[in-house]
Amino acid sequence: MPSPVVLGIESSCDETGAGLVRDGRLLGHALASSMDEHARFGGVVPEIAARAHVHALLPVVHRALDDAGLAMADIGAVAVTTGPGLSGALQVGLAGAKSLAYALGVPLHGVHHLAGHVAADTLEHGPLPDPCVVLIVSGGHTSLLLVRDLARDPIVHLGDTVDDAAGECFDKVARVFGLPYPGGPAIDRTARAGDPRAVPFPRPLTSGDPRTRYAFSFSGLKTAAARWAERERAAGRELPLADGAASLQEAVADVLTRKAVAACTAYDVGTLVVVGGVAANSRVRSLAEERCAAAGITLRVPPLRLCTDNGAMIAAVGDLLVRAGAAPAPADVSIDPSAP
Ligand code: KG4
Ligand code: ZN
Repeated sequence: MPSPVVLGIESSCDETGAGLVRDGRLLGHALASSMDEHARFGGVVPEIAARAHVHALLPVVHRALDDAGLAMADIGAVAVTTGPGLSGALQVGLAGAKSLAYALGVPLHGVHHLAGHVAADTLEHGPLPDPCVVLIVSGGHTSLLLVRDLARDPIVHLGDTVDDAAGECFDKVARVFGLPYPGGPAIDRTARAGDPRAVPFPRPLTSGDPRTRYAFSFSGLKTAAARWAERERAAGRELPLADGAASLQEAVADVLTRKAVAACTAYDVGTLVVVGGVAANSRVRSLAEERCAAAGITLRVPPLRLCTDNGAMIAAVGDLLVRAGAAPAPADVSIDPSAP
């Protein structure tokens, strides 16, 4: 018997996503974003994000069904992000998912947002090899993980950021540089015309201390970039934005890929998977390619549209759970905004 079509719903931040997956195959997906509504505030406003999800949720589910050429009645299970994320935003997604699952008489599965980012890559490149090292780099997270079977084994945390996430660093520095929100793509675009060696920004926690071998820190880098901009402005010079952006991007990409490749070597793992919004960064991608090739490691990075938040990645985890025979969520399942 074929496994059921799984509808995945994502609403942890400013993207409302729906995706449909069966047997590891993406059938269709759709996305709505409230990003533009947050732009003038320079960051995501939780209340605005939650309201936008209320508007977008059902239309996005219908668009995903249209994209797949399927009807509501074809949905065999529903998966939804329960955390981590903004609580109001998560609540809208969970309430919608519960209602749909109840009305359709199908099981509901709660999904960890980060497991979704990891699973996104399986939709493009097939099942993850066991084991693999995963670098998750987004606006809220920077983590190095040792992953075995996503549906069965716990993910082993090798290291996390001790302060800001990599995407947060890009977003905050972009603000200081006067670039638009979201900052990551703006830094990426601006950096194209710059010299990555122009400003010697620090490479935090790369001294080789075993206690911080797989830990990240981007707060100091953010401050260094802000100080550099202040100094340039105080000297009456026009900010050499392209050089600043390229140098910042180089520092972030250097630290991320250096530690990720070191983890693969130390744990004798042959595959590195880089996921999350910052995996869309052109220098993170090219430096990861260079360093993995040099170390004989296979690199997997999802296509750009699956790197940032989306519903397909949540459906991908739901599909794995369904096929592994996981028990559905209880009727009183709740959100977990600060899920570890
Ligand atoms: O995974 P994601 O969509 O949402 C979270 O779960 O956080 O990641 C969003 C983050 C933002 O910080 C955004 O600035 C960053 O990913 N980002 C990028 C690029 N595209 C998105 N950062 C650097 N370069 C990019 N091209
Ligand atoms: Zn995310």
